[in-house]
Amino acid sequence: MDDPSEAYGPNRQREVYASGMLADQRPEMPVSPDELEEAAMEALSEEARAYVAGSAGGEDTADRNREAFRHWRIVPRMLRDVADRDLSVTVCGQEFSVPVLLAPIGVQSIIHKEGELASARAADSLGVPFVSSSAASATMEEVADQLDDAPGWFQLYPSADPDVTESFVRRAEEAGYEAIVITLDTPTMGWRERDVANAYLPFLDGEGVANYLSDPAFRDSLDAPPEEDEQAALWRFIEQFGDLSMDWETVERVQATTDLPVLLKGILHPEDAREAVRRGVDGVVVSNHGGRQVDGAISAVEALPGVVKAVEGTLSAAEAQSAADAQSASDAGDTTNGESDDEFAVLFDSGIRRGADAIKALALGADAVLLGRPYVYGLAIDGEEGVREVVRNFLADFDLTMALSGRDAASELDSSVLVRPDE
Ligand code: GLV
Repeated sequence: MDDPSEAYGPNRQREVYASGMLADQRPEMPVSPDELEEAAMEALSEEARAYVAGSAGGEDTADRNREAFRHWRIVPRMLRDVADRDLSVTVCGQEFSVPVLLAPIGVQSIIHKEGELASARAADSLGVPFVSSSAASATMEEVADQLDDAPGWFQLYPSADPDVTESFVRRAEEAGYEAIVITLDTPTMGWRERDVANAYLPFLDGEGVANYLSDPAFRDSLDAPPEEDEQAALWRFIEQFGDLSMDWETVERVQATTDLPVLLKGILHPEDAREAVRRGVDGVVVSNHGGRQVDGAISAVEALPGVVKAVEGTLSAAEAQSAADAQSASDAGDTTNGESDDEFAVLFDSGIRRGADAIKALALGADAVLLGRPYVYGLAIDGEEGVREVVRNFLADFDLTMALSGRDAASELDSSVLVRPDE
């Protein structure tokens, strides 16, 4: 990959404009996110189109996720020497070269025949962290095999069968993933009007179930192996895919199963964020699942400031308490220091389409953002190369917009970058 510290955005621009000048060539991949979506829709079947682009209910939350970014405005600063820029960020103690992860998106075999393997290869070639989905169409081990140069995290849907949940976590650790991201907002699928109208759920076609059908605990729960009775295996998958009885103990059990950092995805309410900090998880992902679960829900970007404030307040209270404990322990002759968790991560997902969106999310307190639908639209259009192209454009846009805003480090973007004029 181009070294992000070396003028990533201007290099990408020059490459594109040089192709125009020297070879009269325009990029094959649409550049604007809306045109990208349109082109991807043409490449997909009617069912896949609805499943991938669709959201819950009237898709009001999905629309709001994008629209709400407009309320915050960047106030560019001038004459600040931004010739050398640093896009890197540290998340849960892990250094990422860019502040962007590819979001966990399952069932990618309905988007392109090489599915998640192509997406993971594209992420790897760019050194962009990849979050592998429980509902992937290749196994987590096969996806991990594509990741040499990029960090890999594993997204977990806690199963109604705790043995399957535990087995997934152990397999993920064994496969080399570096964090577990528990999705909380999908104990069952939302009411997705387009999918209901199509009577279409990809899992029932055997798509997106590779992790389950290969899992020893899942297989143990079947009367016959999936190779002998696929339909029964798929119904079993439906029965145990989600867990509506999921609660904080579910999270505790995952924490007890692994030494990897554990993050909670789907946090929107400040009180849930506070509880996450108190319970010693390693981070949260502010997300409404791209509007796919609760129609009418708050947009993710409108939820972000409240979550950030709740996390900061809870961490400072915990630090003050541990300093007081350390003081009284040292007064009593005990020299052990109280530990403070200053690496708690707040990530952001849902609605990111352009560099400016990512800048706004980071300025509002996110440590990094997750890019979702745009990259799978690239996958639909041109497989691995399509994903690479979309991500490169996104990073170029991010780098240029940061530079032109007068900022030289992604990790230093803060609220001074933004105003909210209509407040
Ligand atoms: C599953 O996570 C989905 O959003 O379809």
